[in-house]
Amino acid sequence: MEERKVLYSAVQPTNNLTIGNYIGAITNWVGLQNNYDCYFAIANMHAITVRQVPAELRQRTLSLLALYIACGVDPEKCVLYLQSHVPAHAELCWVLNTFTYVGEMERMTQFKDKSARHAENINMGLMDYPVLMTADILLYQSDIVPVGLDQRQHVEIARDIAQRFNNAYSPTFKVPEALYLKVGAKIGDLLDPTKKMSKSAENANGSVFLSDDRDAIIRKFKRAVTDSEACVKYDPENKPGVSNLLSIYSAFSGKSVAEAEKEFAGAGYGDFKLAVGETVADRLAPIQAEQAKLLADKAYLDGVLRSGAERAARTANKTLAKVYKKIGFYS
Ligand code: TYM
Repeated sequence: MEERKVLYSAVQPTNNLTIGNYIGAITNWVGLQNNYDCYFAIANMHAITVRQVPAELRQRTLSLLALYIACGVDPEKCVLYLQSHVPAHAELCWVLNTFTYVGEMERMTQFKDKSARHAENINMGLMDYPVLMTADILLYQSDIVPVGLDQRQHVEIARDIAQRFNNAYSPTFKVPEALYLKVGAKIGDLLDPTKKMSKSAENANGSVFLSDDRDAIIRKFKRAVTDSEACVKYDPENKPGVSNLLSIYSAFSGKSVAEAEKEFAGAGYGDFKLAVGETVADRLAPIQAEQAKLLADKAYLDGVLRSGAERAARTANKTLAKVYKKIGFYS
């Protein structure tokens, strides 16, 4: 039998997740989990590159795990684990640091953005963030990495570092490829649709959080920025607001963008925005209920993490052992 390809992705347990994370990452995983050997991490080591309140970080960790499962990621089919439970991530990151140039890291867009936003705490971890992400991906010999477009540069650097190491020694790492959704790889802010919808946006009215209640969701969509054309058409260049709403509607309704355009042909923006809001709220309500139910069963969630860590470590340690041998660490 042909070996299945390996799929890897992760989300940071920081702030509240948005529908951008849901569309660009988690729902995409659900569709792929039957066809790949999947590893999905909760990236808490990445999270501390920005100061976190410890109790909140702990709580958000379980909450994110419950969300993965509530969205349909199946812990029987996939390895769900917490990054800090597998020490090989930090260990490989250290080795890969010696294959990464300071200049490359200084040029990373996200590093520059975050440095500007957290000028009081530009720590080494923030700069090293892409190397830790590289270690995450390479430890599992991942073939594909489904992410949103904002992670493009990070997956590119993972490929560069893998190739650099392979060239310096001999083939050791699989060189991974990013996988982006055709529609939904960059969900925009509702108030400024050319900007990505972000967990840490300054104005929370532009982001729809997965924890928002129905009223908040509908209110936010009602206020979404559109244009003066009064025509529901997908044209990201000229109609970023309407196109963003169409992408969101398509992801939440399961209909294609073309079908959605047809459905709203002739409709006013008010009705269109209300329909998008209601569709999102209808879909999120059962996920929120399931997440709350799972969170009440901490023993179950701990069990998922324990088993996930064991399975992840088994694969990760194999890769790490290979690396240590190649670079000359005496065993
Ligand atoms: P994070 O936690 O910022 O985001 C998680 C995932 O959500 C995607 N995403 C979006 N997709 C579409 N539209 C948006 N507005 C939007 N906002 C976020 C992100 O692209 C991402 O796929 N560094 C990563 C976590 C990570 C990781 C990894 C990912 C750590 N190690 C290894 C892949 C492989 C991050 O901070 O994602």
